[in-house]
Amino acid sequence: MDKTFVVVGTQFGDEGKGKIIDVLAPTADYVVRFQGGNNAGHTVVVGKDKFVLHLLPSGIISSKGKCIIGAGVVVDIKVLLEEMEELEKRGYDLSNLYIDERAHIIFPYHIAIDKAKEEALGENKIGTTQRGIGPCYNDKIARNGIRIGDLLDKDRFKDKLLWNLKEKNDILTRYGKETFDFDTMYNEYMKLAEKISNRVVDCVSVLNNAIEKGERVLFEGAQALMLDIDFGTYPYVTASSPTAGGVCTGTGVGPKKIDRILGVMKAYTTRVGEGVYPTELLDDLGELIRKKGYEYGATTGRPRRCGWLDLVMGKYATMINGLTDIVLTKIDVLTGLEEIKVAVGYEIDGKVYDSYPSSLRQSKKFKVIYKTFKGWTEDITNIKEYSELPENCRKYIEFIENHLGVKVSLVSVGPERTQNIYRS
Ligand code: GTP
Repeated sequence: MDKTFVVVGTQFGDEGKGKIIDVLAPTADYVVRFQGGNNAGHTVVVGKDKFVLHLLPSGIISSKGKCIIGAGVVVDIKVLLEEMEELEKRGYDLSNLYIDERAHIIFPYHIAIDKAKEEALGENKIGTTQRGIGPCYNDKIARNGIRIGDLLDKDRFKDKLLWNLKEKNDILTRYGKETFDFDTMYNEYMKLAEKISNRVVDCVSVLNNAIEKGERVLFEGAQALMLDIDFGTYPYVTASSPTAGGVCTGTGVGPKKIDRILGVMKAYTTRVGEGVYPTELLDDLGELIRKKGYEYGATTGRPRRCGWLDLVMGKYATMINGLTDIVLTKIDVLTGLEEIKVAVGYEIDGKVYDSYPSSLRQSKKFKVIYKTFKGWTEDITNIKEYSELPENCRKYIEFIENHLGVKVSLVSVGPERTQNIYRS
């Protein structure tokens, strides 16, 4: 029986991973976040209740097991405590939440640098959420980072903070921004450390032991392939690896221990922020999809760019993640459209690409090759059996799985936990 599951985004994020994780989490002994920070915005709808989680694994809402913030995540402790407090106020027991001692901490100077840099880049800005994620990963790679475990050793924390503040205050001065005071920050973080110290563990051994014992582990991805630091639309990407490979680097669990890799794919495409987006609809149809799908950022409230499903990206996502399943979401949003298009190739300088070329740029001239499908008008939001879906809807789904060579094993037809069609 499959024990370890990964859920990743196959497009630009906001595919509805939060809902799918919420659906799968009750069956898991562990729900683990492996990358990113509070730049994620997972939305979980339970009856009349809506939860938007940025840093906590979204599995925490429905999970009966343990929830882990893994080594590859960057943690803004203040945001973590706020999210925890909010959930505790709503009656959730968070005694099952743990943080890997290796996870890096986002400090206020990371946020200040993120904002200053985006401001300085002007029109060329990356479009970050300005929550300090990139600068924190920057420090991690530059080997200056301060990890959760460092907070628990006062002297080590003091040395690292002194060094970092000197460097960051220099940078902020160059940007003409306010600097930070050592004593204030040191004292503040020592107090914060007390609030989380009982949750800090070595998650590598916890997780590997759990897998060894046959427990079920769900790895929860944030963002998505096209925002991956290596394989996304660089430089308009996030600073981590939201692909299945990120599970191994971000939790210390080896690749052979992963059984199933579920790629969440929205039935159309959306993107927040800058960067190339071949199937973008800049017309009324794009606006219609935005309104019907309520495509506004869960973290920033920014309107998302909307467009057709892109199976050139889909092929790329299938390869890079080694997908075993596709979870197709928000197909209900397409109900009522006369025609639905899907990108199956890009033509660049006379050459046709069916998987995403690294050289693609916004500025580059390329033509998107589409396949067109007839739409359907029936309300599909209460359907539970695949065979009851309108024929045109099934044709659309079956084209996706045949084109990608991966089964669409779950079709989501609404935001609620129960609005799912399972296919064996
Ligand atoms: P990131 O990790 O930030 O990329 O977020 P995400 O992938 O979890 O997506 P997010 O929660 O931001 O957006 C998905 C939105 O669509 C949420 O409001 C969900 O409640 C909603 N949603 C999820 N699945 C469906 C679906 O099948 N149909 C409809 N209509 N809405 C859905």
